[in-house]
Amino acid sequence: MENSTLDRARRFEAERSADIRDEMKPAFHLSPYVGWMNDPNGFSFYKGRYHMFYQYHPYDIHWGPMHWGHAVSDDLLHWEYLPAALAPDMPYDAAGCFSGSAIELPDGRQLLMYTGVRRERQADGQEVDVQTQCLAVGDGVNYTKYEGNPVLTEADLPEGASRIDFRDPKLFRAADGAYMAVIGSRPADGSGQFLLFRSEDAFHWSFFSILDQNSNRFGKMWECPDLFSLDGKDVILTSPQDMLADGREYFNGNGTLCLIGKYDPETGHFTEENNQTIDSGIDFYAPQTVEMPDGRRIMIGWMQNWDSLAIREEDAPWAGQMSLPRELSLRDGRLCQKPSAEFDALRKNRVAYENVPVGVEKRQAAAQDTSVSHTTDPVRLPHVSGRTVDLTLRIRPLDPQYVFQSFTVRFAADDCFHTDLTFRPYEETLEIDRTCSGSRRSIIHQRKCFLEGSSDGVLTLRIVLDRFSSEVFIGNGEKTMTTAIYTDPSADGILFLANGKALVDIEKFEI
Ligand code: FRU
Repeated sequence: MENSTLDRARRFEAERSADIRDEMKPAFHLSPYVGWMNDPNGFSFYKGRYHMFYQYHPYDIHWGPMHWGHAVSDDLLHWEYLPAALAPDMPYDAAGCFSGSAIELPDGRQLLMYTGVRRERQADGQEVDVQTQCLAVGDGVNYTKYEGNPVLTEADLPEGASRIDFRDPKLFRAADGAYMAVIGSRPADGSGQFLLFRSEDAFHWSFFSILDQNSNRFGKMWECPDLFSLDGKDVILTSPQDMLADGREYFNGNGTLCLIGKYDPETGHFTEENNQTIDSGIDFYAPQTVEMPDGRRIMIGWMQNWDSLAIREEDAPWAGQMSLPRELSLRDGRLCQKPSAEFDALRKNRVAYENVPVGVEKRQAAAQDTSVSHTTDPVRLPHVSGRTVDLTLRIRPLDPQYVFQSFTVRFAADDCFHTDLTFRPYEETLEIDRTCSGSRRSIIHQRKCFLEGSSDGVLTLRIVLDRFSSEVFIGNGEKTMTTAIYTDPSADGILFLANGKALVDIEKFEI
C-alpha cells in the first residue's frame, strides 16, 4: 500500500535538498537532509554500513510532527542521505514518531522500535499526548510498520507510571539472547525512571523491571536512555529535563547525565556508583551509542540545546546537527571521550609550534614621558586559522611560580566576530563564550566548566571546529564542552591571548 505521508516527505526532501548547498552545511557533522533535526535515533551498524536515523521535521526549521530522517556512512563522518524512514501516518503515531533505536533480526531484517504519539481528547475537552512503543521492520531503506502496533502501551506500565511520558526505547540483546528495551518513564513522584522490557522474539514484549529511579535528584523526566557495558562497568546515559544547577557539575535546563555502576541482569536493577554530566558545554543532548564491529563504543549526540533554539535565525536553511562520533572509555570512575579514530584519519596539513610565548609584556615607552605601560598583543601564527580544524594546545605558565590569570584561544574570529575559550587557573575554570558569534538573541552564550586540580596552569585542550560548531576535549577527554556557533564561516581567525605569561605548544590539522 502506498504510504502517502511518507511519500510526500520523501518527494519534498528530494526536491528541496538542492536549495542547501554543501558549503551551507557542516563539513563533517551530520545535519538534516532538509528542515529540522533533533535526537539521533536507530544508530546502528547494519549490512556493512553505519545507519543514523534522526528526529526530523522536513517542512520547517522548527520542531513539528516527527518523522525519522535517515543517513548512512562508512566512517561516521561522510554521510549519504537516504529517504525518510518513518512518517506519522497511523492512528497510534499520528502526532509523531518519537525517538527510538534499531537492532538486526536473525533473518537479516532491521527492526526499529520508536515511540508513537497519539493525541487524545479528554472528557473535560483537554488534549493529552499518549505515548506507546511501536515497531517497524525494513531492509535498510524501506520500513514497514508492524501490524501488531503498538507493542507496549499503558497496560504494560508498572503502577504510577505515566502514559503521557513513556518514550525513547533503546534496544539491546541480553546475554541469554532475549531482546531488551530500556525506556524512559515518569513515575508518580513526577520525575524520571527507566523501565526494562523483555521479549523472546522482539515482537511480543512484557515488563521486566524498574532499572533505576531519579527520585527528583537529577532534573525531572529522564529522556533518551542508553545502557551498555564499558571497561568492566555498566553505564547509563540519559538526558534529564528541567535540571536545577547543582554546584559545579550540572546546569539549569535540559542536561545530560551519565551513571556508572553495575547492572544486574537477573533482577534488572542498576546500582549507581558515580554520576557526572556527559558534556559541560552549551549544546549537547540526547546522545545515543553503538558498538562498532571492533568493540569500540561510539557516541553521537544532538549538538543543540532545547533552551537555546533561538540561536538559529528564522531564515536559516536548516536546524540541528549531530556531534562528532566519540569513542567512550572509563578512567578513574569517569566517562572519557575522544574523537573516533575515523576522524583522525581525515586530518591533513599538520602545522606545529612549540613553546610559543603568549601574554608576554611588550614594553612601550610613551614618547612624551618616561612612564611605561604594559600591553600584550594577541598571538597569531602562520597557517593557524580556519573553520574546519583540529587544534591541540598544551598550555602552561612561562614560570611555574607565576601562574597566568587567564589564557584565551579565540576562534571563528574576524573584526566583528569571535568565540573565546578561556582558561582561568585561579578559578579552575574553562569558559566558552560565544556572545560575539553573530547571534541576535538574548540566550545563554557563556558556560563555565570546572577543572579541579588545574590551578597550576597546566592544561591540554583539543578543539575540533566544523563550520558551525566547536567541540572541546579537555585533558584526556575527562570533560568535554560542545557548542554550536553559527558565525559566518568567513570569520576564520584563530588567535591566542593571555593575562600573565603563558607558553603553549600548538598542533593544528586541517580537516
Ligand atoms: C528528546 C526528545 C525525546 C523525544 C523526542 C521528540 O530530545 O524530547 O524524549 O522522543 O525528543 O522529538
